[in-house]
Amino acid sequence: MEKRLKEIRNKINLEVKIVKKIKDIEKIKNECLGRKGELTLLLRKLGSLSKEDRPKIGKLLHQYKKEIEELIQKKTIEIVRSEKEKRIKSESIDISLLGKRMDRGTIHPIQLILKEIEEVFLGLGFKIEEGPEVELDYYNFEALNIPKDHPARDDQDSFFINNDILLRTHTSPVEIRVMEKQKPPIRIIATGKCYRRDSTDSTHSPMFHQIEGLAVDENITFGDLKGVLTVFTHRIFGKDRKIRFRPGFFPFTEPSAEVDVSCLLCKGRGCQSCGYTGWLEIMGAGMTDPAVFKKVGYDSEKYSGFAFGMGVERIAMLKYGINDIRLFFENDLRFLKQF
Ligand code: PHE
Repeated sequence: MEKRLKEIRNKINLEVKIVKKIKDIEKIKNECLGRKGELTLLLRKLGSLSKEDRPKIGKLLHQYKKEIEELIQKKTIEIVRSEKEKRIKSESIDISLLGKRMDRGTIHPIQLILKEIEEVFLGLGFKIEEGPEVELDYYNFEALNIPKDHPARDDQDSFFINNDILLRTHTSPVEIRVMEKQKPPIRIIATGKCYRRDSTDSTHSPMFHQIEGLAVDENITFGDLKGVLTVFTHRIFGKDRKIRFRPGFFPFTEPSAEVDVSCLLCKGRGCQSCGYTGWLEIMGAGMTDPAVFKKVGYDSEKYSGFAFGMGVERIAMLKYGINDIRLFFENDLRFLKQF
């Protein structure tokens, strides 16, 4: 019996040494100390031993049992500890690893300046209106008093879809659409894309944006137009900018004016960018022609109005110092990310 006991002890010692999992150590414990374990069975047999053997073997048995229990407990703690360490290691976050950079979009400079300009006119009591990009000849030309032989009507200059339909060449047709559906007082701006058959170069693009403005009421004067456009110029380009009105011609305004802003680079002294004039043209404007009022059924004896139209790309180029209109449409991220 003593021999058998020693065998069990040595076997358990060996097994416990190599075991790595809690599950296996429990199995060993069970096989040795469980209800039907080897040591338990031997303990039960103690009673059948002779009187002389019983105390000696009994003492040995209890000593081994205690030893084995301690051994198993030590090993269990060891395994639990090392498993915990392993888990902590595998779950820890390596904050020195580089993250993935998400590309964030930015607002296109044209949309930026559009919003900025809209804000200025909203603050002056103007409302925002919209019109179609695919427009009837009637709204784009006819109702705006643009005669049949006007060069803009040449299909060399406009994108015609058929005889009566074209891509609008300016935002002025929105003026007619608004006046057709409502009576004065009117204070609106209309923004959007326009199309002309221009070959592309640093200042021309077949698609571009315009902002149109229209105010109609009793007693609207050229002074009102000047006041509104002066506020606009100061808000967009800065308080130290001057504006001037040069006589111009548009079939739908009378009198008409070309509006200039003092050169941002040379501050009016004259440089290459303003052609040594000190001035940069920023828009067309004028008092609504009575012929236009007639088309929409307004009484031109009672009402008067002013209108203006500007190229958004041109305003953005002057404001941000951009020298090529194509930059707006090439989608070069190096350019777009600057806004
Ligand atoms: N529609 C004109 C253009 O495209 C600009 C303009 C608008 C002029 C309103 C006068 C009044 O050139």
